[in-house]
Amino acid sequence: MLKNTLIEAIHAGGIELQRYYNTVFHIANKEGVNNLVTEADHASEKAIIEVIKSKFPDHFILSEECGEIVMDSNMKWIIDPIDGTVNFAHGIPICCVSIGIEKDGEMIMGAVYSPFLKELFFAEKGAGSSLNGAPINVSKETTVMKSCLVTGFPYSYLDEPNGPLQLFEKFIRKGIPVRRLGSAAIDLCWVACGRFEGFYEHQLQAWDSAAGYLIVEEAGGKVTNFIGEKYSLYQPKILATNGLIHEEMIEWLKG
Ligand code: IPD
Ligand code: CA
Ligand code: CA
Repeated sequence: MLKNTLIEAIHAGGIELQRYYNTVFHIANKEGVNNLVTEADHASEKAIIEVIKSKFPDHFILSEECGEIVMDSNMKWIIDPIDGTVNFAHGIPICCVSIGIEKDGEMIMGAVYSPFLKELFFAEKGAGSSLNGAPINVSKETTVMKSCLVTGFPYSYLDEPNGPLQLFEKFIRKGIPVRRLGSAAIDLCWVACGRFEGFYEHQLQAWDSAAGYLIVEEAGGKVTNFIGEKYSLYQPKILATNGLIHEEMIEWLKG
C-alpha cells in the first residue's frame, strides 16, 4: 500500500511536469536570485498531496512549496514537487519529482522520477535500490583522481572557507571532472547507479535529499556530512559517494 501510493503520487507529479513543460507558464521568484517557483511546481505538489491524502489522510507531510501539513503521526512524506526548477523553466529536461518517506525519523522508502529522461529510481530500506525496476549499484572506482563528481550551488552564494566555488576550483585544477546538473535528487540517483562516484553540496534542504539519500545507501553507497558524521536531512551539507572514495573525499573537502 505504501509503495503503491508512493509510485502513484510520484507519477501524478510527473504528469504535471509533462503537461507544463515547454509551454508558457507563470514563474515567480522566491528568496535569493533566480530561485524560481513555477505553476508546474504548485500543480505537481497539489497532485502528489491529493494522492497521499486519499490513502493516508493522517500522515505528516513536508513539501517544499506549501511547507508542513502537521499531523500527529510517526509517518512523514517529504516532497520536492520539481527538483531542478531552473532547468524545468528553461526547457532543460534534467529535472524530477522526489518523494521520501520517514518512519519514526528514519528514511524507509524513496522515489525519484524524471519523466523526460524516463527514469524512475526507487529504494526501500533493507531491500536495495532500482532504476526502472532493475537493481542498481554504486561504482567500483577507488580513487578521487579517476572519479567523475557532481555538485550544485546554492541560490545565494555561501561565503565561507572552502565554499562551493573554492572546492569546485580545487577539483578542476587537478583535472577531476565535476559536473553541475542542477538537480540534487538526480545527482544522488546518478551516484547510486554508478554514473558518478561522488556528489557534494553545501546547502541542501530535506526535500532535495530525502529520497536520493536512501537510494544511494541502498545501492551500496555512503552518505554523511562533510566531516564524515551520520547524515541528517535537517542540516545543510551532504557528501554522497560510492563508499570507496568517501574517506579521500572528506580530505579533499577539508582543504
Ligand atoms: C535545487 C536543485 C539544485 C541544487 C539547489 C536546490 P530546486 O532545488 O536541487 O541542484 O543545487 O541547492 O535548491 O530549487 O530546483 O528544487
Ligand atoms: Ca530541490
Ligand atoms: Ca523544488
